[in-house]
Amino acid sequence: MTRRSVVIGAGHYLPKRIVENAEFEQTLDTTDEWIRSRSGIERRHFAAEGETTSHMATKAAQAALDMAGYAADDVDAIVVATSTPDLTFPSAATMVQAQLGMTKGFAFDVQAVCAGFVYALSNANALIASGQADRVLVIGAETFSRIMDWEDRSTCVLFGDGAGALLLEATPSEGTNADRGILATDLNSDGRHKDLLYVDGGVSTGTTGYLRMQGNQVFRHAVEKLASTANTALGRADLTSDDVDWIVPHQANIRIIQGTAKKMGLPMDRVVVTVQDHGNTSAASIPLALSVANARGQIKQGDLVVTEAIGGGLAWGAVVLRW
Ligand code: UT7
Repeated sequence: MTRRSVVIGAGHYLPKRIVENAEFEQTLDTTDEWIRSRSGIERRHFAAEGETTSHMATKAAQAALDMAGYAADDVDAIVVATSTPDLTFPSAATMVQAQLGMTKGFAFDVQAVCAGFVYALSNANALIASGQADRVLVIGAETFSRIMDWEDRSTCVLFGDGAGALLLEATPSEGTNADRGILATDLNSDGRHKDLLYVDGGVSTGTTGYLRMQGNQVFRHAVEKLASTANTALGRADLTSDDVDWIVPHQANIRIIQGTAKKMGLPMDRVVVTVQDHGNTSAASIPLALSVANARGQIKQGDLVVTEAIGGGLAWGAVVLRW
């Protein structure tokens, strides 16, 4: 027998304020048509003043706990994937720990930008597999609206705020790919591509900074690397794309999502798409999409799910799990 990390709860939180594409037409040289056709985005949510990454993460985590019927103190560890923590330190994860009223265990952040959730899931899986934790909250939460240059039309129309969370539980398993839980992961990065996507502020500048992106260059890397990492992770679980019930991709651009599905030989009716309603919420996009798809009844227990993401670093990766 082996230990598998099985998803027993999922939850998400979106801030109240919804901004439609048309709103940007008032301040920028852009159109709803351009944003929709180039990215697939129609609207996004923006956090209210004072509403932070840790607040949204806590709400998503509480929803995941409620679904599973557990209290905060039943959890051993919290891993938050974010590039927009409330403060430089302490971690957003320790703030979530306090806000949930959790008085034991440990909490830390993972920073791999848009690939953050697959990195966090992979780390949480390792904690469970090695016996360091039995229940782990894995959260993706972002307030990218705080690092937007509102005069840069090539970036500020693309991103949104939100949070999603999964609760993983160690479960005895035969260790076959028919069992539930995380079956395989694949993580990659290539730091030579730093200039394609970064924030021009931080401790070295004494400012928070703004997101800078060479979108078409990132696009070029995306489809190739996403299909490749998804297939690598599937191969590690002795599976192929024919076995996949749902791809739950990072929601950056509908054209990247379609291109990756095509490269993997999968029809779009097996892909969970939320980019039209959420925009690109970076590390929050996959857990948001998973939670929404679960709530819609799209993803069912036993389904084979592949998540894949790429972002600043560049960093990219995939996780294969049986829901
Ligand atoms: O999540 C992390 C990873 N990030 C991504 O995956 C993002 C990947 N990249 C993309 O999604 C796409 O590259 C974008 C949506 C960012 C841009 O689409 P594109 O088809 O690659 O457009 P482009 O950057 O090549 O720009 C085409 C044109 C340019 O004008 P010229 O030079 O052709 O005259 C831009 O200035 O579109 C112009 N443009 C805009 N026009 C109207 C850029 N932003 C806008 C805008 N409204 N908001």
